[in-house]
Amino acid sequence: MITDGVISDMVQTKEAVVNASSLPLSIIIVGVGPAEFDAMEELDGDEVRVSSRGRLAERDIVQFVPFRDYVDRSGNQVLSMARLAKDVLAEIPDQLLSFMKSRGVEPRPALSNSPLPELHRHI
Ligand SMILES: *[C@@H]1O[C@H](CO)[C@@H](O)[C@H](O)[C@H]1NC(C)=O
Repeated sequence: MITDGVISDMVQTKEAVVNASSLPLSIIIVGVGPAEFDAMEELDGDEVRVSSRGRLAERDIVQFVPFRDYVDRSGNQVLSMARLAKDVLAEIPDQLLSFMKSRGVEPRPALSNSPLPELHRHI
């Protein structure tokens, strides 16, 4: 989500985040502009897990990034955009793993035999 402001329906939003935390879903919020983004930091839940009416989010599913932190004053747009992309996606691997672990989904074992030697034998 890209937003230029604070959340006006924080109570419902937190409930929706808590609800969504049991789904294979991540929410990335990029805050654009000079607004106060304290509510977004709260949704990000890196310090305190998001909760709603006593229900705790099952896992962290929100990543918040303020765009203004990536507006480069030195003019090196490329570097700061790469950093933005990296930070925006930073929590996705752990968020995916936390869902898989919570559902007992194990990675498949690596294929022990590459099909390539078999192919070469017939060539
Ligand atoms: C969250 O889930 C509860 C229980 O299923 C539902 O009643 C409620 O409407 C949901 N809230 C939001 C904001 O989606």
